[in-house]
Amino acid sequence: MVNNRRILLIIGGGIAAYKCLELIRRLRERGNRVRVVMTKAAQQFVTPLSVSALTNERVFTDLFDLDDEREIGHIRLSREADVVVVAPATADLMAKMALGLANDLASAVLLASDKAPVIAPAMNPRMWQNPATQRNVTQLKADGATFVGPETGEMAEAGEAGPGRLAEVPELIAAIERTTTAPASALTPGPLAGRHVVITSGPTHEPIDPVRYIANRSSGKQGHAIAEAAVKAGARVTLISGPVNIADPDGATCVHVETAAQMLAAVEAALPADIAIFCAAVADWRVANRGGQKIKKQKGAEVPRLELVPNPDILATIASLSKGRPGLVIGFAAETENILGHAQAKLRNKGCDWIVANDVSADSGIAGGVMGGDRNSVHLIKADGHQSWPEMGKDEVARALVEQMANSLGEDRRSSKRKPSATGKAGAK
Ligand code: PMT
Repeated sequence: MVNNRRILLIIGGGIAAYKCLELIRRLRERGNRVRVVMTKAAQQFVTPLSVSALTNERVFTDLFDLDDEREIGHIRLSREADVVVVAPATADLMAKMALGLANDLASAVLLASDKAPVIAPAMNPRMWQNPATQRNVTQLKADGATFVGPETGEMAEAGEAGPGRLAEVPELIAAIERTTTAPASALTPGPLAGRHVVITSGPTHEPIDPVRYIANRSSGKQGHAIAEAAVKAGARVTLISGPVNIADPDGATCVHVETAAQMLAAVEAALPADIAIFCAAVADWRVANRGGQKIKKQKGAEVPRLELVPNPDILATIASLSKGRPGLVIGFAAETENILGHAQAKLRNKGCDWIVANDVSADSGIAGGVMGGDRNSVHLIKADGHQSWPEMGKDEVARALVEQMANSLGEDRRSSKRKPSATGKAGAK
């Protein structure tokens, strides 16, 4: 619970602005005071009257409102807040923030602020993926902003889908709470402090029709445990997760996706990174002839045939980037036989630096199975050899892997072979 915090919410102009009404209610239920600044465009989507009714405060809309300036002033608006939240953050508003423009009340308040904001973007996927927006995101992250979302999915515009949906209210609240209660990593600078780590986790769902899909048994436990261990080691973590039934790890920015194509887009949007770890069990194929409607079972009719086409290989795509490749790219290999042999081949074929191989066969000897279970037994394979670790909890595997990552970056720093950076230049083999 945030309780008794003063939250300044800056509402940008987008269809998702309506979610802010729910956000305000939930924040106030927790005992917070919420003051709101609305851009001119935001007022096209929700009215200051409804916002004022929910906040029980006046709503600030105009930079040149003499009464507002006399009473509180745009400088004090942000100074008197414990946390500044921008939701929905439009491409335009983020561009202004990145450039330091101050030509309306929202941008002036943000420029005059003495605290790094929580930014929840929402926009059309192409606007989000546009290099100009991504440059602004990189700049704002470098300036200390915390991003929550965007999530991937269907957009309000018919036929549009991809990354760009405003994060759901519980995610927004979790991000606000994390900001107002200093994360452990901010108190103790860990060995991955200043590093950005991107992690994929969980399965993908590849639709057959609107109600059926192809999936696998991955639970996300291993990938999420790595995200948690990396946060504890001080890293800024972006976790891109397929559909799972476990909670988002505290302190990580989580992006929720369904398909391999969405996962690739989310990974690309999360770059640059120092380290990328591909723990997700991504479907190798998707259905080319997926049904637009539920495929009906008809008496006497032939059993439907699914035509599969290959999915993009996310690990291989990122490992082969000529520009912006993370310094350390780690893949996983889920094998049911010839574990080391197949995993070593994957290390070569996919072009990654390390592979973590695990035995996912039914007779792996691990109770409950590696996929879905709590324990794992892995081989860490590098170009110059491999280590076989004993069976342990997935959280212990995660901590040991994070330790290896930190050592590797430390060795780089000591040998000065690669320059450490927070922008994807540091790395190891
Ligand atoms: O989620 P849990 O229940 O905790 O289980 C953990 C796990 C068994 C899923 C995990 O430890 C694991 O092994 N993850 C990798 C699963 C997998 O898809 O392995 P693979 O051998 O098929 O793929 C090799 C690598 O390529 C993986 O890093 C995978 O993320 C990546 N890949 C695969 C296909 C694809 N289209 N794109 C990819 O990026």
